[in-house]
Amino acid sequence: MGRPALSSGSTVETAEADYFQNNPPPKEFSQNKQLVRAFVQRHSEQGRRVALVTSGGTTVPLENQTVRFIDNFSAGTRGATSAEYFLENGYAVIFLHRRFSLLPYSRHYSHTTNCFLDFMEIDQQGKVTVKNNYQIGMQTVLQKYQRAQTEQTLLLLPFTSVTEYLWSLRDTALSLQVLGPNAVFYLAAAVSDFFIPRDRMSEHKIQSGDLNAAGLSQGTKLVVDLDPVPKFLKSLVDGWAPNAMIVSFKLETDPLLLISKAKKALERYSHHLVIGNLLLTRAWEVVLVSPGREEWVRLPNHGPDPTGTFAFESGSVLEIESLIVPKVIRLHDVMIQQTCN
Ligand code: PMT
Repeated sequence: MGRPALSSGSTVETAEADYFQNNPPPKEFSQNKQLVRAFVQRHSEQGRRVALVTSGGTTVPLENQTVRFIDNFSAGTRGATSAEYFLENGYAVIFLHRRFSLLPYSRHYSHTTNCFLDFMEIDQQGKVTVKNNYQIGMQTVLQKYQRAQTEQTLLLLPFTSVTEYLWSLRDTALSLQVLGPNAVFYLAAAVSDFFIPRDRMSEHKIQSGDLNAAGLSQGTKLVVDLDPVPKFLKSLVDGWAPNAMIVSFKLETDPLLLISKAKKALERYSHHLVIGNLLLTRAWEVVLVSPGREEWVRLPNHGPDPTGTFAFESGSVLEIESLIVPKVIRLHDVMIQQTCN
């Protein structure tokens, strides 16, 4: 029998407590907790700001031993690219990302149209080397990657399901409290709005022949009964990270809705910034909505470039995240100054 759905009168705290009580943490939770604590402590001692960048889509499993799941759209480009610009600007980054989605630095060589094997050749001695025309680009990326490794400024935390994501988000936020306003949350992940509570989930693979397997199948149809995921942005802003800067994203497909939905989110959660983007144009334009202000950020001479970047003749590329992240950092500077005064 299923758990009764949350009543519309439930408080945010009750919904949150209910969620974490009924949906257990991921297996690696304790281990990740230690990693996060050590990372935050190190950078706190060094006086470094920390950005928690979330990236990629969360899944909603249909079975406990998961074969099928509902997915959320996101390749992880926004998050992985933004993380690099935070690192370049002196931040340490906790990169909470969908397992196997794009990662900072390796993203340059992991896209299917940018396969790393195409950058290689075998020389006359049989050694694998990087082709001449890619040497400079690869050297630049490698140097930045190695710097992040040497300085231990990048922590990778993977998730798959929405529950794994939320456990990690909450725990990381609590660990980051020690940094006060020196932490920024940059929530680019595409988070599921609906899920199947653990106690209604089928343990094993749903069989097409099973009637009413875990309340999921009716006759020959699979009827999926989803509960709303509590709006965790509220808990984050008010309880888990009350002194940090919070930047959320708003993805829409209808241009007429984007600004009003972004403003509504800002009003509802009272955080610092909503970055609005449309599915089809997200690689070259976004709108930054903060209290009393909206600012469009666009790549110059943009076009529907399938790689999502604006290529210069020199071969270098301008990415919209290189324009977004410095603006977020400027707002973060202001917020920190205001907090200190
Ligand atoms: O990875 P790419 O392919 O580059 O794509 C990037 C992106 C389009 C996914 C990214 O730029 C983006 O817009 N991410 C947010 C998409 C999204 O989940 O929007 P939303 O309207 O569902 O959620 C808005 C905000 O509410 C999010 O910041 C989310 O963290 C938060 N949320 C969502 C669900 C939930 N239950 N609780 C929440 O707090």
